[in-house]
Amino acid sequence: MKVRPFEHSDTETLASLFTASVHVLTAALYSEAQRSAWAPQPPDLALWRRRLSGLQTLVAHDADRVLGFISYETDGHIDLLYTAPGFERRGVASLLLASVEIALLAVDLYTEANLVAEPFFSRHGFQIIEEQNVLYRGVEFRRYAMRRPRDFNQELHSARLLLRPVTLRDLLPLAHAAQTTDNARIDTMIRNSRDCWQRHGYGMWVIVPKGADSLIGWCGLRPIQTPGEPELLYGLAEPARGLGFAAEAARAVVEFAFGLPDVSGVWAATTPDHLASIHVMERSGMSFDCRAHLDGVDSVIYRLRR
Ligand SMILES: CC(C)(COP(=O)(O)OP(=O)(O)OC[C@H]1O[C@@H](n2cnc3c(N)ncnc32)[C@H](O)[C@@H]1OP(=O)(O)O)[C@@H](O)C(=O)NCCC(=O)NCCS
Repeated sequence: MKVRPFEHSDTETLASLFTASVHVLTAALYSEAQRSAWAPQPPDLALWRRRLSGLQTLVAHDADRVLGFISYETDGHIDLLYTAPGFERRGVASLLLASVEIALLAVDLYTEANLVAEPFFSRHGFQIIEEQNVLYRGVEFRRYAMRRPRDFNQELHSARLLLRPVTLRDLLPLAHAAQTTDNARIDTMIRNSRDCWQRHGYGMWVIVPKGADSLIGWCGLRPIQTPGEPELLYGLAEPARGLGFAAEAARAVVEFAFGLPDVSGVWAATTPDHLASIHVMERSGMSFDCRAHLDGVDSVIYRLRR
């Protein structure tokens, strides 16, 4: 199965696939009257041409058939997602959604899911924002407005580690790892990270060894002066130090950063005598840039530019 961009010659195929998908795959949950209002037969091709011309569409296919399609807007709105009857529960819609995720890294995804699609979107991390009752061609439908924040899928994997975006439920384990009782400071860090994901497409992750339940530290990016050149931060709980975890996490984060179109470089700072930290910077590709006074502390700055 592959995914390719929509071509105008697909219009009739997609209109038929949509119509069949609605009439077959939603029959258990929507009445005949509802399905006919949703997908009148035969489909109105002029209407489809107009509708698809305002959307980005991707088509899933195998050697000789179209298996499904997804239509979306660049602000993150998933408008249409339909799998051909007979091909449901084989990962067609998941592959299409994954292709949109790659195209739309920088925005939240949202949709209005019908009752059939809701379990699919829930499975992919969307949350119900509200239940809606809408009239469509004079017939009432129940559906859910659903949304998925863009950091949902930004887990990073390295040989030994899983990095997942920090959430408020990490507050106490993080305070424990950082050996601090200043929970307000950790709370602010988590909230700032959340903001940062929304505004810049990066933030902080917690570091969890693969196969383990609990986090051993944190690593991430924050915009100090220019968002296009964020600061790299990292920290490990005492027992996890000396095993190369910080450098491994830092490399994964630096690689992620350089995958973002607006990031042109990263930098990090430490005190000149902090050899372990300098080692992490060097192992993540940075080299010495300058000495500076940061918050009144004599510091060395390491930097990596694109
Ligand atoms: C909703 C729809 C697009 C899902 O397409 P699909 O190709 O079957 O989805 P996938 O195979 O990628 O499903 C991935 C996972 O989503 C969940 N899922 C999908 N359909 C589900 C269903 N009917 N009930 C419960 N879970 C479902 C499952 O967890 C599934 O994984 P699994 O099969 O390993 O359990 C498809 O059912 C469809 O075209 N429905 C009719 C049209 C429609 O409602 N479109 C959405 C308009 S917004």
